[in-house]
Amino acid sequence: MALSSAIPGPQGSSLARLRAFHRDPLGLFQMLTQEWGPRVRFRMGPWFFTLLAEPEAAGWVLSHHAQGFVKGPGLDSQNPLIGRGLLTEEGSRWAEQRRRMAPIFKTANVEAMGPWLDQTVAAWCRQQPSRDTVDLQASMLELSLAMALSTLFSEDHPRQDLLQEVGRHVTWIMAHFYHRTRSVWRFPYHIPGFNHRYHSHARRLKDAVGTLKPRPRPFRVVWDALAPDPESRLNEMMTLIIAGFETTGHAVSWALDELGRHPFWQDAVLHESLQETWPSPKTHPATEAVLKESLRLYPPVWLLSRKPTEDLSHEDLTLAPGEMVLISPWLLHRQSAVFPEGDQFRPERWREHPPQHPYAFIPFGGGPRRCIGEHLAMAEGMLAVSRIIRHFHVESQGARDLYPGLTLSSLHPMWARLTRRS
Ligand code: HEM
Repeated sequence: MALSSAIPGPQGSSLARLRAFHRDPLGLFQMLTQEWGPRVRFRMGPWFFTLLAEPEAAGWVLSHHAQGFVKGPGLDSQNPLIGRGLLTEEGSRWAEQRRRMAPIFKTANVEAMGPWLDQTVAAWCRQQPSRDTVDLQASMLELSLAMALSTLFSEDHPRQDLLQEVGRHVTWIMAHFYHRTRSVWRFPYHIPGFNHRYHSHARRLKDAVGTLKPRPRPFRVVWDALAPDPESRLNEMMTLIIAGFETTGHAVSWALDELGRHPFWQDAVLHESLQETWPSPKTHPATEAVLKESLRLYPPVWLLSRKPTEDLSHEDLTLAPGEMVLISPWLLHRQSAVFPEGDQFRPERWREHPPQHPYAFIPFGGGPRRCIGEHLAMAEGMLAVSRIIRHFHVESQGARDLYPGLTLSSLHPMWARLTRRS
């Protein structure tokens, strides 16, 4: 492969780098950019990578998706469950789905989902004991799944057994996708005898999701936006669950975990939560700042990858087909020039010095492939954080180690003491 331009980068053992990536990808990226600057080209195993850690270059790649880039191998487009879906498709098949599903996520429709979202969070708060030590991560994943099923697919009170069944299989399948992205050997899905555990989980997940039926609602936008034939419809439902479940669950658990360590901000969120209004950036600015600050520190999608389909150049950056472009929101969000004391949880920065460049803070990606569920995710996050803090005092326990899987989570359970407010 003809490697383009003079982007600096290390020589040396590409296998050692691959091992370092498997051990600690965030540490490796940080080390590479500290040593070589915000654009680094390097080899890992047989592959060439360009890591971009500056908003300008990242913005150029993401905003030019349709003109010369396709998605990298994050989610394998060959997988029969969501491979032909909005997350992985390209070109006209992607554009058709994006157009069709856009009405689901319009502000008016997200607002119309409000009462179901509210009921789901209220039910969670009611069921929670008055004083208990919980794993915030596991609890918020469960709540996030319940919110996804109740808002998107009209399940008034998602049954506990359904939640557990869907949660178990989605979690297994996401871990499988993640290990597959890191594996040199990717046994094709369509050859009998390979990937049989994946097929078994996928079948049981489809059976569970297939029991959800459209119900009369003030809005039928979601069901009407899905493909009419049953097989594609089921796959599209799967895409929405897989894209929104862990991302939102982890975003809320990181925000609560930080609030459990910062009493000043917990009080600010509590104060706002006492208003009888639906949380919005206008009425709940501190709650929004807390959520944004935790999305900055712990962006659930910590790595985006793209492949150029032709020789491309932008100012002094040139890219060649065959190499992989990596953009890490986690790394971008810690650039000290944009976010001073970037390792610290400081929600006040969103009022005092919000970032100026549109690609400096990209928890939802950017360009045409920007997250379609962003408004719903923010509505779910604001509501969950606000209502939970209104009812419970949160005290986080112990330190956290990051686990950059398919989404950024905590390696160990996120223990926290929840005490009901009187
Ligand atoms: C805090 C929660 C969320 C975060 C941080 C997040 C983040 C992202 C990011 C970074 C992308 C772009 C990936 C790329 O460019 O390669 C994306 C795409 C996507 N997200 Fe989200 N997401 C969240 C919640 C949701 C929710 C709730 C849904 C739907 C129910 C959703 C559905 C999607 C879909 C379908 C795509 C693919 C869009 C396309 O390629 O056209 N996401 N998300």
